[in-house]
Amino acid sequence: MDHFHIHGGELYAEDVPLSRIAQEVGTPVYVYSRATFERHARVFREGLSGLERPPHLAFAVKSNPNLAVLRLLGREGYGADVVSGGELARALLAGMPAHDIVFSGVGKTDTELAQGLDAGIGQFNIESSEEGRELAAIAAARGQVARCALRVNPDVDAGTHDKISTGKADNKFGVPIDRAPELFAELSALPGLDLRGLAVHIGSQLSELAPLEAAFAKLADSLRTLRGGGHTISHMDLGGGLGVPYRKGEVLPSPAEYGEMVARVTKGWDVTLMFEPGRVIAGNAGVLLTRVIRVKRGLNDPFVIVDAAMNDLARPALYGAWHDFDAVKPSGERMTANIVGPICETGDTFAMGRETDALVSGDLAVFRTAGAYGATMASSYNSRGFVAEVMVDGSDFAVVADRILPGAIADAERVPDFLA
Ligand code: LLP
Repeated sequence: MDHFHIHGGELYAEDVPLSRIAQEVGTPVYVYSRATFERHARVFREGLSGLERPPHLAFAVKSNPNLAVLRLLGREGYGADVVSGGELARALLAGMPAHDIVFSGVGKTDTELAQGLDAGIGQFNIESSEEGRELAAIAAARGQVARCALRVNPDVDAGTHDKISTGKADNKFGVPIDRAPELFAELSALPGLDLRGLAVHIGSQLSELAPLEAAFAKLADSLRTLRGGGHTISHMDLGGGLGVPYRKGEVLPSPAEYGEMVARVTKGWDVTLMFEPGRVIAGNAGVLLTRVIRVKRGLNDPFVIVDAAMNDLARPALYGAWHDFDAVKPSGERMTANIVGPICETGDTFAMGRETDALVSGDLAVFRTAGAYGATMASSYNSRGFVAEVMVDGSDFAVVADRILPGAIADAERVPDFLA
């Protein structure tokens, strides 16, 4: 459930008409709803209320790294799952306690590992024996001990888009799960490491619980083997991945169903469970508000050319992803149209042959479910700059990221003397 709703013939975010935001901030603009973020954060936590111990919740910053979002989720008791020095810095800047931060990622540099140690983060999820040895050496040289978990690859097909599947044997992530005992033996002997658990994340936008359950069941076997080998396991990180509905009427497993499955599979594990949800918290808490530039006649259907483009919302171009597209002031009439952006390549297409609200030049519309992997994946392709982000709070709203104009990006470039 979200707080974007039609009121008096117009789409609102909470108590703010989207036309007001368009007028004051311009378009395209990402609009987030504070109440929706908070609701999702609470619903996810409540879904896990049946666990044997309170879980550690780390919001996947990659899904929406806006500082206001991180501040809000920090207040909801969430820590952060970060995958770069930049994300780590943001989580700290937003006031998230260092010990609530988990550092994931297959290619952390020495500098990033040191940055995590400097900050005193809660856990590194290491993805190879090479990384473990590097982290151990850096930590030991500083007289520190890095708390970490070993990310395993359970070789489970998450049944999601290939580009966002991470738990198959040929994916780059983690180590093969059957190598966990060998790597634990090697890495836990190193000074500088406190190897305390396993981590898994098999992919994103999962529409079924079965692959997650299969992965967690494999973790259970591994946990038993490791304990049998004399290792102390206190934490198990189950990653993120729960999908969200992108289309009206689509039904996905709820956080409550997910929580029930997790409680069943992890019964008796005697560990603190950690979670890294991203999309399920952020996805439906944001829309991308855009204005129709013009409607152009097409061979079959007309092209509705909007001022948002693939550089602002990359998911349709990258994954063929579906985002519901609705008029801000629906007239009740419908049309079938191709929804495209202004960028000079055919990939800049949000939808072909989509049945949608009838729109004419100047109308406002939204791409829904754009709160996760939206603004964060933007680029400045076609020298378009970065769109603004707004957060609505009841009848109030604030710009939480300024629009970055193309000129500001060009300001960072130089023509060298040898071309003067
Ligand atoms: N933990 C790890 C280690 C991850 O790699 C990810 C996402 C998450 C947690 C959060 O997953 P979530 O709960 O959001 O599914 N750009 C793609 C999604 C890429 C996800 C990458 N990893 C998209 O727009 O669909």
